[in-house]
Parts: sequence; C-alpha cells; structure tokens
Amino acid sequence: MSVTVTASMDSDSPSPNPSISPSTDLSFSSSVDHDHDLSETDIDIDVDIDIDVEIDTDDATLAKIQAKIAHIKALYDSGKPLFPRALLACLDAQIDRASANTNARIAKEITEEKRNTVTIPDLDGTPHTYSLKVPAWCVDFATTYRIGYSSIQNLTCIHPSFPEISLRDSSPVSICYTSSPDYGGKVSFEQVEERFKESVRRWEGSQTCADLRVGLEDLIRSRKLTKKVRKIVCFGLGSLSLIEEEFCVGRAHAQHAAVGTMVAVFKQQTKAGNGMKEMSRDRTKQEGDKKLMTTDIETDIAVAEEGEEKEDEEIRCYAQDPAYSEADWSLLRSIGIQPLDDPKGFLEIDEETLVFSVSPNVPVKQIVADVQWPGAMIWNTVAEEEREARWEKKMRDGEEFWVVPFTTDPDSQRVRNMVQSYTSMPLRDSNEYFGDLTVYVR
Ligand SMILES: C[S@@+](CC[C@H](N)C(=O)[O-])C[C@H]1O[C@@H](n2cnc3c(N)ncnc32)[C@H](O)[C@@H]1O
Repeated sequence: MSVTVTASMDSDSPSPNPSISPSTDLSFSSSVDHDHDLSETDIDIDVDIDIDVEIDTDDATLAKIQAKIAHIKALYDSGKPLFPRALLACLDAQIDRASANTNARIAKEITEEKRNTVTIPDLDGTPHTYSLKVPAWCVDFATTYRIGYSSIQNLTCIHPSFPEISLRDSSPVSICYTSSPDYGGKVSFEQVEERFKESVRRWEGSQTCADLRVGLEDLIRSRKLTKKVRKIVCFGLGSLSLIEEEFCVGRAHAQHAAVGTMVAVFKQQTKAGNGMKEMSRDRTKQEGDKKLMTTDIETDIAVAEEGEEKEDEEIRCYAQDPAYSEADWSLLRSIGIQPLDDPKGFLEIDEETLVFSVSPNVPVKQIVADVQWPGAMIWNTVAEEEREARWEKKMRDGEEFWVVPFTTDPDSQRVRNMVQSYTSMPLRDSNEYFGDLTVYVR
C-alpha cells in the first residue's frame, strides 16, 4: 500500500489522508464498489461493516465545511471548469521549465527552491505554490511528486473521521507526493518485449479483440462515427513490465495491444475513403485528358493531394501513465506509441482524437469533459444517474479504515451531459481484459 499526500507550500501542514488523495498505486486507490474497479484485488479484507456515517466534529466547524462545499458546488453548477486546458498547459510549461533548469543546472541566480516550484490557482483563482521536490517531511515514504486531480466528488465529500480536511486547500489540480514503483528496474526491455509479443498473439486471437474490431467497423460503416480519427490518446493502461503479476500484466498488455487493433480499423476507414477519392480523381483526370489541359497548378494540386493522403493515413498514438518504467517507454516507442508525461496527454486531445482509458487512478472523464471533447472515447461506462454515495467502514489486519464511496474516475453531471452528444456502444469483453467499457462516438 502506498500513501499519497498533498500539500501546497503555503499550507502549514500536509493532509496525510490516503483515502481521499489521488493515488497512483494500483494496490491502493480510493475507488471501490464498482465493477471496473481494481483497487482491492490485492487487499485482504476481513470484515465489512456498513454504517450510517456520523461526522465527528463540532457544529461551528461543520457549518464552515458545509459553506465551503456549497461554494464549490455553486461554482461547479455555474459551469466553471475544474480542469481548464489553460491551467494544465501552464502547469506543463512550469514543469518543463523546472526540469530544463535542473538538467542544465543553469540560472544560478534562481534559488533551488524557486527552480523546483510550480504555482497552480485553485477554483477561486487564488494561487498555491507547490514544490516538485519531495519535501523533507515526507521523504520516508515518498520518492516523487505527482499531479493530483480531484474529482467533483472528491472536492465535495466530507471524510467521516477527518472532516477538517475539507477546510484545507482543496484545489482540483495540485501536487502530491508518493512512492514511485520502479517496476522496470527488475525486468529488461527484451523480457518485456518477448512477453508483449506473446500477449499480442493472445489478444489478436481473442473474442474481445474480434468484438472490438467488428464494433468499430459497424460504427464507421453506419456513419455514427462522423469525426475522422487521427490520434489515439491513452490514459492509465498500466505498466507493461509487471511480468510476474499475471492479472495486471495480462490486462495492461491486452489494452496496449488493443491500440494496434484500433489503428488497423481506422486505417482501413481512411483507405476506403481514399479509394473513393481515387475513383473520383480518375474520372476527373479522364475528362481532363480529353481536354488535354494539364497545367502546372493541376500538377501541384495532385502532388499536394498525394501528400495529404500520406498524412491522412497516419494515426498518431500517445499514452500517459506515470507508472511507465524505462523499459515501458522503450517498448511503447518500439510499437509506435509515444509515451507522455502528465499532463501532456490531456493537452494532446483534439476533436479528431479517440481517448482510450481503462480504470485510471485519476478522474480522466471529468478532466476530458473540461479540457476538450474528443471525436470518440472508449472508457468506463458512464452511468445514467449518480450512484448513491455511501461511506463504508472496513477492517484490515484488525484496523478500521474508511472506503470512499466513489471511484477514482467517477462520472459527474458534466460527463453525463457530454456523453449525451455521442452515440454509445457497449463493448463486449468476454476475456475480461477491460471490464465495463463503452465506445462513445460522434
Ligand atoms: C487501477 S490501474 C488500471 C491499470 C489498467 N488499465 C487495468 O485495467 O488493469 C490505474 C492506472 O492509472 C494510472 N494513473 C495514475 N495517475 C495517472 C495519470 N495522471 N495519468 C494517467 N494514468 C494515471 C496508474 O499508474 C495505473 O496504471
């Protein structure tokens, strides 16, 4: 289990509250009670007690907490984005600048502390400064920083045992500290590659693969997918290097192999489209030949069109997951997927992108709904209504702990509104490579 804490440099002390902080660790996520959730696969639960939750605080504090939550809800209901694209772009630029400064060891006049800090505004626009270096108070368990993304549920829930946490800085985007599992240290690129090739063979012979291919072809043929897919951006597909963990690696490999299947289907679509173009161009050329009027401009257009086609056929693939090891980065590049650091994946999304995300540990759906509506998504099925939020107390090794009543990638009203503009097709997954996914196209 890993502990993830978040604290801005202007807050007096951190919030060591693993159950409501975003976690990047597969073995500990704040999500449960959901059929696509994987958070408890390696947790041994002894007893399960459902209770009516009482908030353990005085009336004055509770009133302050409720006022703060009402304020956040009002901002959200007014349409204010939790994850504005400009905020993520600015954070990305600050992180790039910090790492360039660190690498080049330049800017001596800038203090070490300043070089490693980023500033992120909260929902009210108040700036908070965070260190990208793991602060002294958490070096015992943390080795790296991560970008923390808080869903609307996360920002507006009250923890039964630690209600005062709601009064601390609760920015939708923050910096938190966690341990970085270096899976890649143990396995070489060659080992991962060999195992991945085997996984691709298994994936390509699977019923889930066949169903994905047929489903996408149907959506294209029936013109329910009207947008051209030129990019596929993936989130949270998991490390490929956990080759000793059969369950995790089987899923991660199949999910990455599925990207190859998607590319093949969309390329076919482009070729079919180009075939139609070719036929109509041949007809025009025949008519032109008859007139014997081929000018330089016409030749230029023909050359430009040929170039366009080559570009047309290209589908760029990207994947963002902070769990990727060095071996993962090399393997991804070797199979034509460009790995990206957080938050660059979100910034890559445009109208001609297909977003592919499977049970990520961050609220990808809510981020995408704010940043950019893509041409298509394949992600965990969006429920028609908000589930009832119910805290659960569980026991592990004789100790009680609270389980947060929503997943790490929960739906929201904004996500529900967004998917209403898409045609949806549930994905059959008889091999259990994905869980409960739906294809959304427009
Ligand atoms: C529960 S695992 C799911 C892995 C895999 N998709 C599966 O279904 O088995 C969640 C994944 O989300 C990843 N994740 C955490 N933060 C992320 C971020 N900011 N962007 C993308 N992925 C992230 C984690 O590293 C982890 O691989």
